[in-house]
Amino acid sequence: MHKPILIGPFTQLLPMTGLPLKGALKDEQLPIIENGGILVSEGKILKVGVFEELKSDDVDIHPIEGTHVCLPGLVDSHTHICFGGTRARDYAYRNAGKTYLEIAKAGGGIWDTVTQTRKSSQDELVKGIISRSQKHLKNGITTIEVKSGYGLSVDEELKMLRAIKQANETSSVSLIPTCLAAHMKPKDWNQNEAYLDVIINELFPIIKAEKLANRVDAFVEESAFSPEEIKPYFIKAKEMGFDITVHADQFTTGGSQVAVDFDAISADHLEASSEKEIQLLAKSNTIATALPGASLGLGCAYTPARKILDAGGALSIASDHNPGSAPMGDLLTQASILGTFEKLSNTEVLSGITFRAAAALRLEDRGKLEAGAQADFVVFPTDNYQEITYHQGQLKPSEVWKKGAPIH
Ligand code: NIG
Ligand code: FE
Repeated sequence: MHKPILIGPFTQLLPMTGLPLKGALKDEQLPIIENGGILVSEGKILKVGVFEELKSDDVDIHPIEGTHVCLPGLVDSHTHICFGGTRARDYAYRNAGKTYLEIAKAGGGIWDTVTQTRKSSQDELVKGIISRSQKHLKNGITTIEVKSGYGLSVDEELKMLRAIKQANETSSVSLIPTCLAAHMKPKDWNQNEAYLDVIINELFPIIKAEKLANRVDAFVEESAFSPEEIKPYFIKAKEMGFDITVHADQFTTGGSQVAVDFDAISADHLEASSEKEIQLLAKSNTIATALPGASLGLGCAYTPARKILDAGGALSIASDHNPGSAPMGDLLTQASILGTFEKLSNTEVLSGITFRAAAALRLEDRGKLEAGAQADFVVFPTDNYQEITYHQGQLKPSEVWKKGAPIH
């Protein structure tokens, strides 16, 4: 058996442990281990502590030269990186004054990507997912949630979910799949209830049988599915043991109530949430996920992250990387910018892209550096963690480790 590897010393090591899942966080609460080290064996963390104290004859050392800050591998808890084609013309439409919904009506929007994704083979989708996830990995993201939702038929949703599974088998990033068959009402179905019936009765059982996903999502919105329409979909998903997540309150409210009613793991977007929805979420077990990439992409308001945290809610921050509303896909840049606009502490921003994001995916073995966790971590070439958000994503990692191995 190989000896455990001791990696370090890091000028500052941020384990992101001992912090609550919910509520506001001050930087004084952030645990920092100076001259820290991580002891790793077989892809898992054995111990985290002061480097000198972890040294022994029984370990091999992977030295870190110079000044560095180490954090848990970042977690992006909401993306749509499985898609075909581009939506570059949406940018021009938007800047010419068309709204998101007007663009959809003019032939752009989600349906445009559905058309282009349906034309892509499963292998082409796999290549796209791998190239996007490799880019994220270089930026320190070691776990990425990926949704279907551009297929919108049983076969096309299966093609997407199988592509995500195949990409996960070959990529060094962990990909967490989610079924978003209720992304919009497919234009080739005139009876919407009938579409959801087919999804529930035909698609869900195959997803279970092939173990393609254990999470189900829907876009609850006036332009997509109303709270009433989506009920049978979530009732069935829950009965079958899927975790629930909801695209909620993006343009109009109603989705966060659905999320809380179904005890969803997360409610994502929330740009339109008012005090009522903020209180509702804060009192629930549902994690609020801000998607600043969509606010930047659409030129819309940010999720009221400050108010959610002050009300006692849990806040994850994700990129929403997708070809339409959030093509940038740079989580650290977006989280840092959200911090600026919403007046978040560094600890709130970093928690939102580490352990709070992991909780939004119900992953207990990452987002923190502690014994037993996956040895996923990211190293930044600086002596002060504050430099990371200050540079708004332009300070790039010098090393990224996934399951105890450095990524090259
Ligand atoms: O999270 N809001 C709905 N779905 C995506 C957008 C997808 C698209 O525009 O293609 C979102 O922003
Ligand atoms: Fe989304």
